[in-house]
Amino acid sequence: MSEKQQPLLEVKHLQTGYGASQALFDVSLTVPAGQCVSLQGRNGMGKSTTVSAIMGLLPCWQGDIQWQGQSVVGREPFEMARLGIGLVPEGRQVFPNLTVWENLVATAAKPNKKNTHLPPARATSSWDLDRVFALFPKLADRRKHFGSQLSGGEQQMLAIARALMTHPTLLILDEATEGLSPLLRQEIWQALATLRHEGLSILITDKNIKQLLTLCDHHVIVQKGRTVWSGDSAQFRADADLKQLYLAA
Ligand SMILES: Nc1ncnc2c1ncn2[C@@H]1O[C@H](COP(=O)(O)OP(=O)(O)O)[C@@H](O)[C@H]1O
Ligand SMILES: [Mg+2]
Repeated sequence: MSEKQQPLLEVKHLQTGYGASQALFDVSLTVPAGQCVSLQGRNGMGKSTTVSAIMGLLPCWQGDIQWQGQSVVGREPFEMARLGIGLVPEGRQVFPNLTVWENLVATAAKPNKKNTHLPPARATSSWDLDRVFALFPKLADRRKHFGSQLSGGEQQMLAIARALMTHPTLLILDEATEGLSPLLRQEIWQALATLRHEGLSILITDKNIKQLLTLCDHHVIVQKGRTVWSGDSAQFRADADLKQLYLAA
């Protein structure tokens, strides 16, 4: 029983920073299994730092990060990936000198026998080229093109596809549609809605509040390294001051 209700990811009172410079003072967030959560806040408030700490790219100074009820503090990034977190980092970072196809197979994870002690795979967790090309037909057309030849939107599709090829249980997207044309943004939101309906859990940062409210179940707002608000979409819409207080540029 409790396994179903146990959150997939839980960040509790997280503190971290860069060298001696503290960036997060008290960030808490929960991603329930199969749900979609937005992490919002103005520039420099700590969204990417939170994502980096979850991935094991930054140390946890205080607080805890739990994956399916167990602390993962001190885990390396590759271990977090193996546990089931797929990251689409800010700025995409696809390999410019590899083709679309090479980008996808270079990072693909084979379903690993060693991982069988992990909780049962969700229906969404098995990905192959056919499935990512069905999600992003544009990538199929461009499969022989180099990463550097792709538009920003295509690169973002490739970054998402690449993360999916590791069979994640949780997909984390940092600035999911930043710098993309409106049309390509729409394609990304559409794909994320499809993934969400297939049961993939998602943690996402983006500037488009309207799309986040449509896609996500829960929302967390950070300000100056602290969680200052969290709630569902209805609570978000009902709180007239929220945008002005924490999100308006
Ligand atoms: N590599 C870094 N070195 C030092 N400080 C950083 C670094 N990256 C981010 N910061 C600082 O951490 C704080 C949070 O930044 P960040 O997490 O990138 O915010 P957001 O993603 O919400 O825009 C900011 O004060 C920022 O200047
Ligand atoms: Mg950021």
